[in-house]
Amino acid sequence: MTQYVGAIDQGTTGTRFMVFDHSGQVVANAYEKHEQIYPEPGWVEHDAMEIWENTKDVIQQALSRADIGPDQLDALGVTNQRETTVLWDAETGRPVHNAIVWQDRRTTDRVEELKEDGWEEPIRDKTGLEVDAYFSATKAEWLLANSDPIKLQRSRPEDIEDRAADGEILFGTIDTWLIWKLTGNHITDVTNASRTMLYNIRDAEWDDELMDEFGIPEAMLPEVRPSSDEDTYGATDADGFLGASVPVAGALGDQQAALFGQTCFDAGDAKNTYGTGSFFLMNTGEEAVKSDHGLLTTIGFQRSGEPIQYALEGAIFATGAAIEWLEEVDLIDDAAETEELARSVDSTDGVYFVPAFTGLGAPHWDQRARATIVGMTRGTEKSHLVRATLESIAFQTRDVTEAMVQDADIDLTSLRVDGGAVKNNFLCQLQANIMDTEIVRPVVDETTALGSAYAAGLAVGYWETVDELRDNWQIDRQFAPDDDRSDVDRRYGRWSEAVERSKDWARD
Ligand code: G3P
Repeated sequence: MTQYVGAIDQGTTGTRFMVFDHSGQVVANAYEKHEQIYPEPGWVEHDAMEIWENTKDVIQQALSRADIGPDQLDALGVTNQRETTVLWDAETGRPVHNAIVWQDRRTTDRVEELKEDGWEEPIRDKTGLEVDAYFSATKAEWLLANSDPIKLQRSRPEDIEDRAADGEILFGTIDTWLIWKLTGNHITDVTNASRTMLYNIRDAEWDDELMDEFGIPEAMLPEVRPSSDEDTYGATDADGFLGASVPVAGALGDQQAALFGQTCFDAGDAKNTYGTGSFFLMNTGEEAVKSDHGLLTTIGFQRSGEPIQYALEGAIFATGAAIEWLEEVDLIDDAAETEELARSVDSTDGVYFVPAFTGLGAPHWDQRARATIVGMTRGTEKSHLVRATLESIAFQTRDVTEAMVQDADIDLTSLRVDGGAVKNNFLCQLQANIMDTEIVRPVVDETTALGSAYAAGLAVGYWETVDELRDNWQIDRQFAPDDDRSDVDRRYGRWSEAVERSKDWARD
């Protein structure tokens, strides 16, 4: 009987389950979208129960389609949309409120208050993060203050804050929620902890001062473990939905999982993943490099018994989200159309689209920026807007690349890419031209799920060494720059002006 490793990839728009064989090839795959809930402008929520139900569904679907039994899984890995915050009742196993998604801007005022109170430098020092509504701390604080006490009175009538202090209300990012549902244990990994704005990435512990400032009692926080853990986080229940006891042994935030899946194990290795947003991560080894140019310092991964590996990150909030928006307003029916439409014109005809729907992340960090289209004339056609959308993805990546080159003092000559949008050859070529860098696309572009499978498989000995994983990595196609540099730089200058116009737009 052939053995495999499974990976749950719980992303912003949907949940995927993939099964990988020893050569890192996909042998089973299923995906389900979940509802995006927008209760107010700038707010984004998910129903964590729906996410859990979908997780079980996609696991069952993938296994039955490929005719693989659960006992053929040596281990399970979890990877997830990061920062999205769930609070749940440990007794009933039900969330106390919808999860607040990483894109949500409801805590913007609180963040501004933190800045006024001088928290920017201490938070940067402790957590490596910018003070921003993106991260979990202000979301958890909001949930503790605003979750409906009526719902909570099902079991015991006490105040939510008291129950949190007693460890009866639990906090988790989505990895933690799924690990708890799968194994019954309240655990997160170092990479997800590093996105909460509550975790000291240098001392590798929950930070007392930050827990105090946000009113988050330690009793509600999960135990923090390596991303690939030989002790495992627990196992699924043989009498549960899966019908087998499979160890859950790997967890990584999705961007860190992609770094792992791209086998960026050494300092200087970098990748860019194109999902709802885009996230450019560079491994900096055992050194937590502080950014002077608007990047985040974050935890890249940790293997059992080994030191934490850090990364520099350029977090771009909206890239694939901009293509989704084109679909939502009926400019296109499907993302796959963008390649042909963009190729049907020679340029955007002077149109620039800054998709700052939920503010701007790295390197600008402007919570009040909003999406902006400039340069339209009566001659502007759908194809120009579509091309401008693809250009916005490539320009935003250049913004974070320039910051990365300065912070890390490197000369970036080639970049590994992955995620849904890299199927688009036009985008890959555009990215090579706009960055003047070779773009390298691997055969397995679902590197997020692959990285999480690698973390789990290494922990249980399915793979023995990272060299086996490096051997699995294969190039599908390389894209070399082939455009006129001066024209690219002129367009990049205009893009930077458009970005300035999008800033500081949303006010009460
Ligand atoms: O930090 C947010 C990020 O983890 C979301 O990733 O792939 O769901 O867009 P994705």
